[in-house]
Amino acid sequence: MRAVLCTGYGPPETLQLGERPLPEPTRAQIRIRMRASAVTYSDCFVRGLVITRPLHLLARLVIGVRRPRRQVLGIVVAGEVDKVGGGVTAYKIGDHVFGLDGWGAGAWAEYKCMKADGVLAVKPESLSWTDAAAIPYGGLLALHFLRTGGIAAGQRVLIYGASGATGSSAVQLAKHLGAQVTGVCSAGNAELVRALGADRVLDYARQDFTTMDQRYDLVFAAVGRRYNPPSKLACERALAPKGAYVTVDGWNPKLTRARMEELRDLVVAGALRAVVDRQYPLTEIVEANRYVDTKRKRGNVVIAIS
Ligand SMILES: NC(=O)c1ccc[n+]([C@@H]2O[C@H](COP(=O)([O-])OP(=O)(O)OC[C@H]3O[C@@H](n4cnc5c(N)ncnc54)[C@H](OP(=O)(O)O)[C@@H]3O)[C@@H](O)[C@H]2O)c1
Repeated sequence: MRAVLCTGYGPPETLQLGERPLPEPTRAQIRIRMRASAVTYSDCFVRGLVITRPLHLLARLVIGVRRPRRQVLGIVVAGEVDKVGGGVTAYKIGDHVFGLDGWGAGAWAEYKCMKADGVLAVKPESLSWTDAAAIPYGGLLALHFLRTGGIAAGQRVLIYGASGATGSSAVQLAKHLGAQVTGVCSAGNAELVRALGADRVLDYARQDFTTMDQRYDLVFAAVGRRYNPPSKLACERALAPKGAYVTVDGWNPKLTRARMEELRDLVVAGALRAVVDRQYPLTEIVEANRYVDTKRKRGNVVIAIS
């Protein structure tokens, strides 16, 4: 099968299209004929491994010393079940699934095996493969951190970085949960963020929400510290009494099958839609990585596989 191989840590050009043997599912796994994946911040992070010294050593021990131990990257999965392990009852051949396999990776390939009880859900028929690949990553992160922040109906919620994969999901989910949403992004993305449901949009180049009069019950930094969001201390100045600050860099987000099914149901209910900036074929994985490395993508970058 064709797969994208990551032969060392480095820039997008480190990736090469190559051949790998067709993977065989174990008893507890399914094999998925991949239709689409995404290029996420996390994929690019593992590929580049640009990180400060002491953490760099630790990261290499966890991810792989000279190159990622899982040589095929790609954590977002959207495809058709084409083989099931002997112990699997939850899925059958032909099921359409989408989800995320953070530790197994391997989604930038024509086929991928993953545990049947992993972070997967049956894809709604109405959702295209492209859109299916744009839901899991930002959707799961947004759902987790909004919950961590104790989101509730009627709250004033500010989403910083509202046009990214996580931010664009967070705006929609917060709105769906009954919050009054302020999105912060660059001027060029204001219209998108408003269309996703934000009641108010601030341009971070001209308006510093941390020094304005408005107070919030929840401030969610939906872009991590590599994007230079305002500090925790500065964000806390904008909080109402008992308000909460959460960052997407928070520890150990809960990514589960139940949450993936919840996202699927929200898509079906029309509460969450995919935001796709660009789509590339698998053969243009280098270009797709270059674009994600700019930190300027709107929503998601999708890889069409077959
Ligand atoms: N906690 C965990 O375990 C965990 C796991 C995975 C990922 N993460 C974190 O999750 C984040 C995922 O990000 P993502 O994929 O959702 O982001 P993304 O889609 O890559 O974000 C791109 C967006 O960031 C915005 N942006 C860039 N610089 C900005 C700035 N200075 N201020 C405000 N917005 C800015 C851009 O909008 P404009 O052009 O409008 O500025 C663009 O639309 C990462 O930062 C990573 O640290 C955490």
